[in-house]
Amino acid sequence: MNNTHINPKAATQYLTDEPIANLQQHLPAQAVVISQPAIQQYYGQHWKDVPVILIGDGEQHKTLQTIYAIYQKLIDLGIDRSGMLVGVGGGIVCDIAGFAAATYLRGIACAFIPTTLLAQADAAIGGKNGVNFQGFKNMIGTFSQPQFILSDPAVLQTLPATELANGLAEVVKHALIADAAYFDFIEKNYPKILNLEEDVIRRITLRSYQIKSTVVLCDEKEHNLRRILNFGHTYGHAIEKVTGISHGHAVSIGMAAAMRLSLKHSTLSQNHYERVIRLLRNLNLPVSTSADPRQIVEALTADKKRVGNEVHFVLLEKIGQAIIKKIALTELQNFLLTT
Ligand SMILES: NC(=O)c1ccc[n+]([C@@H]2O[C@H](COP(=O)([O-])OP(=O)(O)OC[C@H]3O[C@@H](n4cnc5c(N)ncnc54)[C@H](O)[C@@H]3O)[C@@H](O)[C@H]2O)c1
Repeated sequence: MNNTHINPKAATQYLTDEPIANLQQHLPAQAVVISQPAIQQYYGQHWKDVPVILIGDGEQHKTLQTIYAIYQKLIDLGIDRSGMLVGVGGGIVCDIAGFAAATYLRGIACAFIPTTLLAQADAAIGGKNGVNFQGFKNMIGTFSQPQFILSDPAVLQTLPATELANGLAEVVKHALIADAAYFDFIEKNYPKILNLEEDVIRRITLRSYQIKSTVVLCDEKEHNLRRILNFGHTYGHAIEKVTGISHGHAVSIGMAAAMRLSLKHSTLSQNHYERVIRLLRNLNLPVSTSADPRQIVEALTADKKRVGNEVHFVLLEKIGQAIIKKIALTELQNFLLTT
């Protein structure tokens, strides 16, 4: 990958796959790294001349309290408007660093060094950031783009295996909603992806980045097109809430359910359906759950994406092409309770 512009209209924003060891070369004088203890231990030698703020691990730390503590440290460090916050970590670190940067002094620069596959292929891209609030996920936040994203595939070697599934599900989602050739590539190369071969990881993070940023550029504030990024997520979030399984596993099950619904409500062929299920299984992602469907339907009914008695549901017309349809809640409930 060469340096690629994040926003074609803003020549100063770029994506690079340089080694994390090059990070300091990209930083201004007043840079501050935001990271987590485990990541600092593995990679902290690459920003040893830069002040570091460590945040806690887990969703319970993605809060305004953490942001408050960051503001306090930025003031103590004397960071002014020339400063830059550099989020080095997974989606949590990127969301926190992006939100703190967008609001401190009414906005200073930020950059992301995503270190999970989910962050490289999804969370660091698109400019959404934010924190959870009183149990509601991502309730408070802003839209604001990083100045650069440095995405080094080598850092995934230290990622716990359980974390990989979260990224894989989003990667498959990008291929399904936007690019049949990308799907073919993943289908052909899945053993190399599971082995984290760097060239293949580079290809998938770049292609996922291109797909997500194109969708986001067309619809930055999530009015319509951006909804296709929710493929598998309406049902997936409900499963995650009820069962507590990982986000990636829940999205995979959600995508399988959305495809079953697509067989009925869209033009999806049985052959494409079976290819996708096979790929999800090959990537060690689940396609069904033994959870009580009534509880899942209940959680789905409370989903914020609902409008009146209808849900904007993302369906697949074929591999590489998604469509958004309004589906009556009663119909969705019947479908989920009977399949
Ligand atoms: N802003 C967006 O558009 C967007 C999109 C998708 C998800 N998200 C957010 O992303 C978050 C989830 O992100 P995630 O899945 O990356 O989880 P995460 O940020 O919690 O990271 C997972 C775990 O892996 C550890 N870790 C990260 N990189 C590592 C590495 N290279 N080696 C060893 N350990 C490493 C972290 O310390 C953490 O314990 C959620 O809060 C979600 O809301 C945001």
